[in-house]
Amino acid sequence: MPILLAINKKEVREMLAFAVESRAEEKVYEASTAKEAIDALADHGAIRTVICEYPGISDVLFRHLVSLNRARPERDQIRTIVCSARKPEGDETVKRMNVLGYASWGNLIDSTLALLGGAVPENVETPESDKALTDADTCRIRTALLIRVGLLQAGVYVRLSPTKYVKLFQEGDEFEKDDYTRILNEKRLDYLYLRRDECSEFLLKFKQDLLALLQDDMAVAAAVPKLLEEVHETAQELLNKLGATAEVQAVVKANVQIAVKAMGKAPKLADILKRFEIDREKYIASHSMLIPQIAGALAMTMDWKSETTLQKLALASFLHDVPLTNQALAAVTSLTEFARKKDEFSEEEAKAYKFHPVKASELAKQFQEIPPDVDTIILQHHERPDGSGFPRGMTQHQISPLAAVFIVAHDLVSAMFDPATPFVLAQFVEATKEKYASGNFRKLHAQLATLKL
Ligand SMILES: [Fe+2]
Ligand SMILES: [Fe+2]
Repeated sequence: MPILLAINKKEVREMLAFAVESRAEEKVYEASTAKEAIDALADHGAIRTVICEYPGISDVLFRHLVSLNRARPERDQIRTIVCSARKPEGDETVKRMNVLGYASWGNLIDSTLALLGGAVPENVETPESDKALTDADTCRIRTALLIRVGLLQAGVYVRLSPTKYVKLFQEGDEFEKDDYTRILNEKRLDYLYLRRDECSEFLLKFKQDLLALLQDDMAVAAAVPKLLEEVHETAQELLNKLGATAEVQAVVKANVQIAVKAMGKAPKLADILKRFEIDREKYIASHSMLIPQIAGALAMTMDWKSETTLQKLALASFLHDVPLTNQALAAVTSLTEFARKKDEFSEEEAKAYKFHPVKASELAKQFQEIPPDVDTIILQHHERPDGSGFPRGMTQHQISPLAAVFIVAHDLVSAMFDPATPFVLAQFVEATKEKYASGNFRKLHAQLATLKL
């Protein structure tokens, strides 16, 4: 019998939907709000099980379930699995419901499947070889990119929990490219997974795909910036999981070439910016792809127009926050801001934050044939002209001119991402006057107002 899954967070909902669909072999309808859930119950009268988060979208939905059940005999009742951090003991509505059981967030998939109980046939257990897979053994890849590169020999996995993966295709499955793409699309999952030791084939095809794209001006213009962000997100994962292998380097460089080409071809900075969506949920990828556009434009106003300069800025931007995986942590701009928010982060994250400029610049040094000062820009990207930055506390004389361009561009991009205040260039220029009052920073600041955002 069909199941309704009412959970607001898309990623959690899709993961659980996949697990229930493939392991319990039941049709699953999804809802992200109480209204969607109530509509689904009306449209699909056969639903007898609802999996719903608590608290959250449960309020109205739970009351609706109580009223639906009131008129039904026991065998026809809708039963609910309540997903919550702890049992909602005192809740009057929950008491009146037909609750099948409680699934904790920490063990959501296993406890939900266990509660669905008899519906999980033994013979669709995860194969032994996949059971052993954990987060440490896999790389998270954007589904859109997997579709771009086409059919792979390597296994493609769905992640059910940090220690549980299911292979999407079984050994011996043979597909036409269209069928493969259709299946990936149908899963409606933003991400799929490859085994760490099976990434080479994907990387090779991916590089070829990006290099082919590079030859086509129209395609570059159409693909940027969404593709750049997707590539960044996946390349960051691969850099962190596999290190700067020759294959990963090739993909990063191809992406940077596309970014530089898009910069050079775009008639106006304003046009590029219009097409950039500020995606705060994907801060790392999103701001890393926006910075080169601003930094490049700023460098141009200083008459630093060479393609090498643009390449340095784009590569530095691609790599500068790669060691950070927490989006909110990467959005922190200074140690003072970090001290204010330190309760939001673990001790390990605090350490990662303080050392990420060093770690990222070490990573850049491993790249073959790249301009030598890319690692300097990365190392200095949190330094400030008054010496209040980190990791070295350098002052404006010690900060390299290109790092200064990067710092000012990054500052501007951070202001664009700030949800608290809508971005107005003139206000940003005014607010940063004192901060950038000397040396190269003063010159750059004077150019800021001329940017056509
Ligand atoms: Fe950054
Ligand atoms: Fe950073």
